[in-house]
Amino acid sequence: MKIPLSNRLLACCGFVRPGDRVADIGCDHGYLGIHLLKTGIANRIIAADVNEGPLQSAMRNGLKFGVRDKMTFFLSDGLRNVPRDFDTLVCAGMGADTMISILEAAPWLKDGRYRLILQCQSRRPELRRYLYEQGFRILRETLAQDGKFLYPVMEVGYEPAEPLTPGGYHISPALLASGSSLLGAFYERVKDALETTVNGLRHSGSEKLPEFEAILKEIQEMETLIYGERG
Ligand SMILES: C[S@@+](CC[C@H](N)C(=O)[O-])C[C@H]1O[C@@H](n2cnc3c(N)ncnc32)[C@H](O)[C@@H]1O
Repeated sequence: MKIPLSNRLLACCGFVRPGDRVADIGCDHGYLGIHLLKTGIANRIIAADVNEGPLQSAMRNGLKFGVRDKMTFFLSDGLRNVPRDFDTLVCAGMGADTMISILEAAPWLKDGRYRLILQCQSRRPELRRYLYEQGFRILRETLAQDGKFLYPVMEVGYEPAEPLTPGGYHISPALLASGSSLLGAFYERVKDALETTVNGLRHSGSEKLPEFEAILKEIQEMETLIYGERG
């Protein structure tokens, strides 16, 4: 029986170190943890969700795929009811506001022994900025594609570092260094979105225009790094 795992979640699994104890927060169907157990990457999974329905679905799927006994389930808002004896936190498929509120409520994650694998659905620059302000650093970042959607996936550690540049919160140095074959397509989408924002701000006469013009310029300057010298 094949686990219906998206490329997005597969990319999250790609950052899990073999043998790590993994806590999947917002596990929903539980497929990420089930895949990690079935492939032997992880031996135990903490599966947590704030809603009863998704948690029940993760339990059913754990049984269906024969790994229920290696999973522990917690009905929990973020990490509130979750034990701290794991190595890697995975948070996928949520927006930046939810992720930030989960991290805010668990300051004990600011410890070099934890690694965070984050796949954020919205307002990603704000999440990256928040992480750096809190002393986290993006260790690795890659991209996954499902259908027409491109998803950045980050591996993050508590390792205070220099803040990123404003453009770096849109396309991080770690993503630039990733060698992902999807980087060109992602770059075009980020650039198009910023151009739309800048045009909108220009028309409305917003005071935010200079800030976004500078970000767009920085992103445009990444073009050579991404495509090499052209023509
Ligand atoms: C869109 S689903 C993503 C599921 C899975 N992680 C994935 O990426 O496919 C979001 C899940 O997060 C759960 N969730 C939302 N806010 C949460 C919170 N504060 N703590 C724990 N789970 C949460 C929802 O109930 C839902 O099951």
